[in-house]
Amino acid sequence: MELKTQPVLWAFFLMLSLWSQVCRSVSVHFLDPKPLYVVQGQILALHTEIGITTKEAVPTVVWERVSPDAKHPVKVAEYPGQAPDKRIFIEEQGAVLKITNFVHADSGVYTINVTDHLGRVASAQHIVEEYMAVHHVSVMVNVSHTSLHCKEAWGTQPVFSWMHEQAKVDGSHGRLSPDNSTLFVTARLCGLFTCVVSNRLGHSSATYTSEPCERKGNGGTVAVVCLFLLLIGAGALLFLLWRRRRQHRSRGERLREYDGPL
Ligand SMILES: *[C@@H]1O[C@H](CO)[C@@H](O)[C@H](O)[C@H]1NC(C)=O
Ligand SMILES: *[C@@H]1O[C@H](CO)[C@@H](O)[C@H](O)[C@H]1NC(C)=O
Ligand SMILES: *[C@@H]1O[C@H](CO)[C@@H](O)[C@H](O)[C@H]1NC(C)=O
Repeated sequence: MELKTQPVLWAFFLMLSLWSQVCRSVSVHFLDPKPLYVVQGQILALHTEIGITTKEAVPTVVWERVSPDAKHPVKVAEYPGQAPDKRIFIEEQGAVLKITNFVHADSGVYTINVTDHLGRVASAQHIVEEYMAVHHVSVMVNVSHTSLHCKEAWGTQPVFSWMHEQAKVDGSHGRLSPDNSTLFVTARLCGLFTCVVSNRLGHSSATYTSEPCERKGNGGTVAVVCLFLLLIGAGALLFLLWRRRRQHRSRGERLREYDGPL
């Protein structure tokens, strides 16, 4: 039994060693692939994971950036090496890049290039943008389809919400688009609508004023109250008339019965 399994085991180990030779290459990827938004003055931190099988040889790492208004990449930092700027820090053997006191010029596409001792290169890219406050909120009305569109200029990750008069808009006013920026009004379009756009840096709002809701509502109520009073008045009048007739008739009957004053 042992003699039979041994060749299989040997073959397995041979395959494993061959496989590890082939796959012994360098790799790098960002831990969070989503674009990174950084508020001015805060810390930009890019975390990568470098995969390398030969631990004895430290790879060299180069960080570059292509700014939106520049065509060519600019070297930001390298490892091993000295950071060119006091704001720039390299950690974990080049796998982590940190830039303190973020300014708009720090945004762009960042590239990390990792080169192992055999000259093989792995690289990965990441988008870094400035986190912008909400600007220029406006509300447009589509009268033909009774919908209200809320727009915002360039804020990062805007979150939309609506108010009608002082209350939060709910299902009774209408339907919201998936991103909440459009309100399809199903009830009568009246009163003051406010669109509030917010993000991490604050909020801004705009309003749309249509004809007042109260006037027509009050008018209707007044009409109903008037009609009600009129009906009561008419009813009372009829009742009084009926009572008078009845009294009249019963007096006449009594007069006839007793034939004289009481
Ligand atoms: C980094 O890698 C990219 C893509 O592989 C390449 O275009 C660029 O020239 C490299 N930069 C350096 C400094 O090696
Ligand atoms: C109003 O909304 C409808 C449906 O979404 C659209 O087809 C139309 O162009 C809009 N009108 C205006 C003036 O935006
Ligand atoms: C839209 O608004 C509803 C409730 O007002 C909220 O639960 C939902 O998360 C909002 N969606 C977006 C994309 O902001």
